[in-house]
Amino acid sequence: MNVGLKTQIWPAGEAAVAQAAHCLHEGGLVAFPTETVYGLGADAANAGAIARLYEAKGRPSFNPLIAHVGDIADAMKIARFDATAAKLARAFWPGPLTLVLPKTTDCPVADLATAGLDTIAVRVPAHPVARAILRAFRGPVVAPSANLSGHVSPTTAAHVQSDLAGRIDLIVDGGAVMVGVESTIVGCFETPMLLRPGGLERGEIERVLGQPLAQPSDDEDNETGQPLAPGMLASHYAPRTPVRLNAERIEPDEALLAFGPSGVPGVGPPTTVMNLSVRGDLAEAAANLFGYLRALDGKGARTIAVMPVPHHGLGEAINDRLRRAAMGRE
Ligand code: TXA
Ligand code: MG
Repeated sequence: MNVGLKTQIWPAGEAAVAQAAHCLHEGGLVAFPTETVYGLGADAANAGAIARLYEAKGRPSFNPLIAHVGDIADAMKIARFDATAAKLARAFWPGPLTLVLPKTTDCPVADLATAGLDTIAVRVPAHPVARAILRAFRGPVVAPSANLSGHVSPTTAAHVQSDLAGRIDLIVDGGAVMVGVESTIVGCFETPMLLRPGGLERGEIERVLGQPLAQPSDDEDNETGQPLAPGMLASHYAPRTPVRLNAERIEPDEALLAFGPSGVPGVGPPTTVMNLSVRGDLAEAAANLFGYLRALDGKGARTIAVMPVPHHGLGEAINDRLRRAAMGRE
């Protein structure tokens, strides 16, 4: 059990990047910023490191990881691209899009990271610190979000520290992330399928494809009996405080996660209110979502009441995470 490690925190920069690459080579666990959320990286070819990663997160090991690489050429060493996948990669990488593709026959990524599936999730992150670490390491890095399994994803180094200090080797602090929700995951099957809404809007992907993305039905399984996006367990993004959606008025002992310029009845001076975006901007709301959920979770309120968030654009990913947060502790 890797509890009791001394977790170092280094500010992003050349020294931190070199230290991160060194640490990954040694089989260590390194948290670093991506444009979506902080990731917890391990050498994708090192099964021992990956076992420690699952343990550090307390993550069920049937839940496979995303392999992060520096560019399309490196992605093609681990995954087979058809024309659709190549088109999406060219349009959106580097950026908040993950593609699920068949593994190459000589894919160096450890089976433990793909949970025995013959597909692999691949992404080229856009964050300059993530890119620098991938360049320095020169191999695929698997990286789930750097939180304890079941918690909301971290958008600052302090969030990572509060979940994982003592369990991982290094945190590279690159400040708050830009996007704030995880990457959009598209399965490149016969018809491209939206496996997880995320930081890249569905509409942008559909525009490039010239067709709508298919949607897995809630209980749809692949031939192996594994869920198509196994990480989309209902309770994935849950704060400890119960979450109540579409609040139209609030009770005295509730905290409010607001959206937009208008208020809701019932809010008085003792109410803790955090507004995802006063001006109703969905990108700003996505960037604030997980940090505000964490902050409100610490206020001792009976419930976190959440105002309705429009469902278009990034609202699809925001509402997906909120729905999971609300189901979390049932
Ligand atoms: O933005 C992100 O994607 C962040 C940053 C760190 O890159 N990473 C992230 O990883 O959100 P994680 O492990 O929290 O979520 C990965 C998701 C899980 O739902 C997992 O089940 C799914 O990707 N996944 C991974 N490999 C898969 C595969 N072969 N087929 C289907 N789903 C897969
Ligand atoms: Mg996660």
